[in-house]
Amino acid sequence: MMMNRQYQLIDRLRSDRLLSAEEIVELLRCLDHEGRDYLFSQAAEVRQQIYGREVYIRGLIEFTNYCRNNCYYCGIRRSNRRLTRYRLTAEEILGCCEQGYRLGMRSFVLQGGEDAANSDSYLTPIIRRIKERYPDCAVTLSIGERSCESYQALFDAGADRYLLRHETANAEHYALLHPPEMSWAHRRRCIEQLKEIGYQVGCGFMVGSPGQTAGCLAEDLLYLRQVEPHMVGIGPFIPQQDTPFAGHPAGSVELTLVLLALIRLLLPDVLLPATTALGTACADGRERGLMAGANVVMPNISPRYARENYRLYDNKLNSGSEAAEGYQELRRRIEGIGYHIAESRGDCRRS
Ligand code: 5AD
Repeated sequence: MMMNRQYQLIDRLRSDRLLSAEEIVELLRCLDHEGRDYLFSQAAEVRQQIYGREVYIRGLIEFTNYCRNNCYYCGIRRSNRRLTRYRLTAEEILGCCEQGYRLGMRSFVLQGGEDAANSDSYLTPIIRRIKERYPDCAVTLSIGERSCESYQALFDAGADRYLLRHETANAEHYALLHPPEMSWAHRRRCIEQLKEIGYQVGCGFMVGSPGQTAGCLAEDLLYLRQVEPHMVGIGPFIPQQDTPFAGHPAGSVELTLVLLALIRLLLPDVLLPATTALGTACADGRERGLMAGANVVMPNISPRYARENYRLYDNKLNSGSEAAEGYQELRRRIEGIGYHIAESRGDCRRS
């Protein structure tokens, strides 16, 4: 009997680490329940070969929710007046790191909106202080589009990694998600510059955002294959009530898991988080993400008032409890599915 087409495509993706855009679209269309399970097991196997049963952790510090941008999907967009804006002080940021370090974290992500207060002269001393105090830790920035000089200055201050999701590799789709003053080409240039400077770079996109087609997703995957980022962040689109996309349906958890697995096969050694959005869309979303090929989780270590107001989307996972308690719960869940948390910087094992 001829082998079912979906298995052929999955096997070829695993051996060649590549499919054409047409084949990716075909696979997304023909994948059935058994095909998905097969895909997840292949991705878990590849993940296991490279990263074993270890899960890397990053302490996420959402240090400002001021943003000059007006992305149609995002709850911290400039025009959202129904949001209490906040900005952590340098001392508060260092306090988060101290707590994270005590919990065993050796990697911190400073994430925030594009806040005018995030000048180089404000950020560089903070980065330096973190690296001085915790020389065994990696610092990741996720603060949007900046000049090449600024990326260089932050790198020179000690930042190791930079997350800048490309959001969508399709220019028309990009224009549907963002106001006209935002540029798809500029964002891609930023990602190129970050790579050139020497950062470990992360890009990524939302799954199921308004206007996204299977063709868009194929373009996203081929863009990843071309950029070869060290990290890829993806999660389902989740509507936020105070945005223009409030009435749009959320992206599917199943499709997000499929994309995680496809990314693991395309870029076997990539650092792939099971994101907060995935954990928000579904109670065991992050565990299912790990079983579909993800190998990173990013527990939130921001102060409670910050977690409550960093409202990218509705019902964002935010264990009302203290960050430390939320983390212990996450650790139990990870151990519950046979993985364990590594107390390390969690660098990419790229040879
Ligand atoms: N749903 C899911 N993800 C979102 N992001 C922003 N808004 C939403 C939303 N409504 C993602 C974007 C951004 C990252 C910080 O969060 O991809 O890059």
